[in-house]
Amino acid sequence: MTRKLGMRGNQHLGLCTYGLYAYDSVWLLARALAAFFKQGGNISFSKDPRLKGNGGRLRLDSMSVFDGGNLLREMIFKTEMTGVTGPFRFTSDRDLYRPAFEVINMVGTGFRRVGYWSNYSGLSVVPPESLYSKPPNISSSNQRLHRMIWPGQETDTPRGWVFPNNGRQLRVGVPKRVSFQEFVGQVAGDDGDDMFRGYCIEVFTSAVYLLPYSVPYKFLSFGDGLKNPDDTDIVHVITEGVYDAVVGDIAITTNRTKMADFTQPYIESGLVVVVPVKELSSSAWAFLRPFTPPMWAITGIFFLVVGAVVWILEHRMNTDFRGPPRKQFITILWFSFSTLFFAHKESTVSTLGRIVLIVWLFVVLIINSSYTASLTSNLTVQQLSSPVKGIESLLASNDPIGYQLGSFTHNYLIQELGIRASRLVPLNLPEDFVDALRKGPRNGGVMAVVDERAYMEVFLSTHCEFSIVGQEFQKNGWGFAFRRDSPLAADLSTAILKLSESGELQKIHDKWLMRSACTSENTKLEVDRLELKSFSGLFSICGTASFLALMVYFALLACQYKRHYYSNSDQSSGGGGGGGTGGSRSGRMRTFLSFVDEKEESVKSRSVKRKEMEDSRGSSIGGGDASSMNGSY
Ligand code: SER
Repeated sequence: MTRKLGMRGNQHLGLCTYGLYAYDSVWLLARALAAFFKQGGNISFSKDPRLKGNGGRLRLDSMSVFDGGNLLREMIFKTEMTGVTGPFRFTSDRDLYRPAFEVINMVGTGFRRVGYWSNYSGLSVVPPESLYSKPPNISSSNQRLHRMIWPGQETDTPRGWVFPNNGRQLRVGVPKRVSFQEFVGQVAGDDGDDMFRGYCIEVFTSAVYLLPYSVPYKFLSFGDGLKNPDDTDIVHVITEGVYDAVVGDIAITTNRTKMADFTQPYIESGLVVVVPVKELSSSAWAFLRPFTPPMWAITGIFFLVVGAVVWILEHRMNTDFRGPPRKQFITILWFSFSTLFFAHKESTVSTLGRIVLIVWLFVVLIINSSYTASLTSNLTVQQLSSPVKGIESLLASNDPIGYQLGSFTHNYLIQELGIRASRLVPLNLPEDFVDALRKGPRNGGVMAVVDERAYMEVFLSTHCEFSIVGQEFQKNGWGFAFRRDSPLAADLSTAILKLSESGELQKIHDKWLMRSACTSENTKLEVDRLELKSFSGLFSICGTASFLALMVYFALLACQYKRHYYSNSDQSSGGGGGGGTGGSRSGRMRTFLSFVDEKEESVKSRSVKRKEMEDSRGSSIGGGDASSMNGSY
């Protein structure tokens, strides 16, 4: 009744009888035989001389057959008994009723029980009898065994069988790169073997380790070691049967997917344009950069307008804002621009003037702080020293474009973007990139370099005089290539996704590709100028406050003038003294303007005097009242 499940060297995991099935089996056979005889069965054994042939060989065809076998089998299946292991009987399907086994872990010559198996509850760590009272649960989450000890005294579950590759190692082609060896680089191996290291290699080995089976492989280098090999060529070698797979910085392109099966991409890349940049901070007009020209213009106009409004509001009651016209004009300019530094010396005495001034000072505060912040950030800005702003401007020009030798970029630029092949300059090493970009198109260099972002990020981390311009204009990713229909492509894709989800992929990336040698990584290429629309709210508030203040001021002024004008008219008609009013429209306007220009104090003192005169006249003729001219605005 013992069945072995599998073998691991000299150790194996097995199922053995639970309890004493062997004892019960003998007991069962005895009972069945008793029933057999009761039914008239007969067993007899006799020696058959025909079994021995010539030369002493056995003649099996002359063996007798036991005629009562069917009856005996029927009696066995009908037998029901309680043995030492409990109830013992067969189901209608002639299976043992509720069979139960111990699961044992063979370790060397000994064994240990790791659980039980029954057809009622499956694998469990508790004896099946205690489960019969509960509803059966054979869900996979309920299947449990104690920890196994595997060959080599390991407690980790072995990853399984060997990948079926006819017993030979997987031949993995790897490009022998001469630049950007952070991705793939050859190192000296033992016994002349090709050994590689780098980001792509570590992603591959980590993904292979996650496969549920072992994959023996060996790396075979591709390329002459003098220039970067063409990655399309190395993928093509798969179709010739030389390699089973290709591992490296292989971009997944349509052309290549026709030759091989690719895994999921393990890194995103895409084509970008790289051009030279230069520092902008040397400009003599750098101080003007924070604001756009309309913003400067409107700010200047507001300084003058607010100065004029405050002058209007203060002129009648503040000696600081009075005097000869030239002096007043200078006062307006000086007052308004000194508010920029909160350094205005002229006091404001009118309520309306103070309201306008406080709103304006708030606006000045915001403008000042924004200017300071923007100027600080702008002083670290770099400026493009090339007219190329992205792939569009590169397409529009006729200048030479650099690309990395061996990359799919060459074909992409010609076939997809329609760039003439004569414009494309192959560059092998990062030093060639630097040289060509520094020389520029007029001295035999290139206008820009087009390459994958992955390489360019590594390149730019140590070459701050260049920068990526514009957006990534082509998206792709790198994957591992396998022969068509290889199951490894799908399994490695799953493994890559696992690496990505566990964060391992990012760690490998950071280990090989994170560089921060260049401090200009955070510099910007575009000047973020503060625009007028960012301040339109502030200017509206200030403009509205000034307008309302002027309206209130003129309304009060009109009232005051009216009273003044009519009392003067009364006096004139009554034969009294006072200022002449003039009868014509221009005369009235002149009177009004001279009233506006007149100091308020003199108007008031004149009214007081007039009131006193009226009072004295009124008391002589019997009293009377006159309205007060007092008003503060
Ligand atoms: N990654 C580039 C390509 O796949 C260059 O190796 O063509």
